[in-house]
Amino acid sequence: MDCKGDGYRYATEQTEKSLQRLGTYADLYLMHSPHHPSQRLEMWRALEDLKKAGKIRSIGVSNYGVQHIEELIKCPRLSIVPAVNQVEIHPFLLREEISQYCASKGILIEAYSPLAKAEKMNDRTLLQIGKQYGKSTAQVMIRWSIQKGYITLPKSENPERIHQNSLVFDFELSPADMKTLNSLDIHMTTGWDPTTMK
Ligand SMILES: NC(=O)c1ccc[n+]([C@@H]2O[C@H](COP(=O)([O-])OP(=O)(O)OC[C@H]3O[C@@H](n4cnc5c(N)ncnc54)[C@H](OP(=O)(O)O)[C@@H]3O)[C@@H](O)[C@H]2O)c1
Repeated sequence: MDCKGDGYRYATEQTEKSLQRLGTYADLYLMHSPHHPSQRLEMWRALEDLKKAGKIRSIGVSNYGVQHIEELIKCPRLSIVPAVNQVEIHPFLLREEISQYCASKGILIEAYSPLAKAEKMNDRTLLQIGKQYGKSTAQVMIRWSIQKGYITLPKSENPERIHQNSLVFDFELSPADMKTLNSLDIHMTTGWDPTTMK
């Protein structure tokens, strides 16, 4: 298998179309999920070739579990380790296994839904920690994510909240508070979780 079948052609065509709409090259392009197991390797090969052609600067994956990344890394016909794995991570969903594995391979974590989709804004521990620093629950969650070393992707449609969420570089959570936040893990996914699929 040369990894250049239907999955390769489909991913190449769709990415070319996206880049045309964008009107320029992409700094980072991700495979959104590990769905389509029979075509994962071919799709990754397509992104590798687009990167080698200079159309994409970096390529990465999203919602990949350790087993999915291993599949890419171990395939002799593939040569590029993902730059990034974008996965849901917040204090209620630590994903230590994925996080440690990615760190060991030099893969950056992009932490999506870092505010747990606002489902824990009134959590007592978060409120207490925020009070110590004069910060909101959202600011504590974003700061936690940054201190974990992640690229943090909070979302808000509210201009005031977007501004508030950016005010996280004038304080540092203590090691004790980081430990307390790490202990909140209840494996709470707020949406889908393809990381466990085959
Ligand atoms: N790769 C994937 O499969 C995947 C899956 C899900 C999400 N994502 C990405 O991750 C990013 C964020 O994820 P997300 O939107 O799911 O979750 P999120 O950032 O954890 O939470 C967004 C929610 O929090 C609220 N919020 C934001 N700031 C707040 C604040 N200061 N106080 C109170 N509430 C606040 C927002 O409401 P308001 O808008 O009203 O402020 C919104 O309801 C998005 O860019 C999304 O595209 C990726």
